[in-house]
Amino acid sequence: MRPDDANIAGNVHGGNIFKMIEEAGCIVGTRHCNQHNGERCLAALVRVEKTDFLAPVFVGEVASVTAEISYTSKHSMEVQVKVVAENILTGATKLASKAAVWYVPLSMQDVGRIVEVPPIKYASAEQEEEGRKRYDAQKIERLEKTAKIEAILPPPANPERHTVGFSQHSLIHLVGPPDCTLQDYVNGGVTMKLMDEAAGLTAFRHCKTNVVTASVDVINFHRKIQKGCVVTVTGRLTFTSNKSMEIEVLVDASSLMEEEKGKYRAASAFFTFISLDKFHKALPVPPLKIEGEEEQRRFEEGKARYLQNKAKRLADKQRQQ
Ligand code: COA
Repeated sequence: MRPDDANIAGNVHGGNIFKMIEEAGCIVGTRHCNQHNGERCLAALVRVEKTDFLAPVFVGEVASVTAEISYTSKHSMEVQVKVVAENILTGATKLASKAAVWYVPLSMQDVGRIVEVPPIKYASAEQEEEGRKRYDAQKIERLEKTAKIEAILPPPANPERHTVGFSQHSLIHLVGPPDCTLQDYVNGGVTMKLMDEAAGLTAFRHCKTNVVTASVDVINFHRKIQKGCVVTVTGRLTFTSNKSMEIEVLVDASSLMEEEKGKYRAASAFFTFISLDKFHKALPVPPLKIEGEEEQRRFEEGKARYLQNKAKRLADKQRQQ
């Protein structure tokens, strides 16, 4: 990892790790779907399950990414990706992140056509059954989630410090050829990198210290973003605990050529950031000052996610002991 992959404190950005995860998943998925003489296609990222950043990666370390398909449905595949960081001076290795990502193969001839996924062979019937359960669960969750699209209001003039408006932040990016796949649509990894950047800036504005990504809730990519679109990626704080911040990131796209068609929501996610001191220890976070009913509702929802994630992490830890 090089200095341009990291922040000024030398921590590799979560967004760059996401980019590597997405590339590995796309290669494995595309290879799998093209190994028979069927229609040529490219695997498009449609969903990333909740991802924890388990250990920091630093400039000078070597990151190895491995990806394996763990489930196939008729039109989608789940890929398990692991990122291991190695200190090449000492040989020490650590699991930096692992993620479950879903891809859908899109035809090279007609990007609007979804190609069938060749089934994989499972090691056991239980493994297949477990995969089917994960597939069913995400399908149900998607149906429930699409109903709610959060609006973004511009922050007030001269907002008070530590309010939502004070740190709310938008990045505006024109989608060019380097951002796109072979099918001229934005690469999922590029979008996730922008999302991480917007979340990181929001977290930094709130606490003005070194901040790092701790985890990201599920991300669904509902719609493609075409080359030539303008993407607005907005980060706003929803919740703070004693030592963590939850930032909602909303990705809106609009066509530069057809501005009259308006913006559409291409993706959204909740990022959790931690503030670190110079010894990489977590610092207390300034409490978020809530203004109005909407912010209060989002705070309560963020708190519920925080408590649920914390309980799950604790249960996982106890199971491993
Ligand atoms: N997560 C997991 N699987 C998904 C998914 C998601 N978010 N969205 C769609 N799928 C799967 C469905 O389960 C289905 O597979 P199945 O038939 O085996 O169950 C398959 O995709 C097709 O679903 P369908 O409902 O027919 O299509 P759609 O209207 O959801 O469109 C895409 C699917 C891929 C065309 C559309 O979601 C899209 O264009 N997404 C953006 C892709 C992209 O540009 N990625 C980069 C992001 S920047």
